[in-house]
Amino acid sequence: MKKIDLSITIGFCQTDELSEADQQLVERAKEATRNSYSPYSKFAVGAAVRLADGTTIIGANQENAAFPSGLCAERTAIFAAQAQHPDQPITAIAIAARNQNGLMPDPIVPCGSCRQVMTEIEDRYKHPIRILLYGTAGTYVINSVKDILPLCFIGDSMK
Ligand code: THU
Repeated sequence: MKKIDLSITIGFCQTDELSEADQQLVERAKEATRNSYSPYSKFAVGAAVRLADGTTIIGANQENAAFPSGLCAERTAIFAAQAQHPDQPITAIAIAARNQNGLMPDPIVPCGSCRQVMTEIEDRYKHPIRILLYGTAGTYVINSVKDILPLCFIGDSMK
């Protein structure tokens, strides 16, 4: 059988190695963890989305006693951005999380549903989204959602 190599390369760096704009986006994601409503998991996630015009929109996970009714931080930020600025491509997203001990040491990574939603945004606006996944030990830097969701399903897959 023929093998297909789907390997990816991502960056890992300290916050001060990021550009000023990316550092600010990470800070906004860290601050956004404070807006989380997560009484059930006690895991507070914050996301900050940067639009092409430089606007930043934040989101935080919102839980519900009926568990599936809640939503991840990434999707609250992305959907708010699209609802308010439908003409603006999303160019970057930063994500941070804290538990009861404080900010997480390892970078927080988006769940599969959030990756799928981010894929739709890249496809919709034909613009890659830079993903900054913050941990106190370092930040993963990913240049496109395609890197973390290979073999993705998009609208064209149905044509
Ligand atoms: N969560 C996010 O907000 N983003 C992620 O990338 C992973 C998980 C939230 C959902 C839920 O409120 C809590 O974290 C525990 O899963």
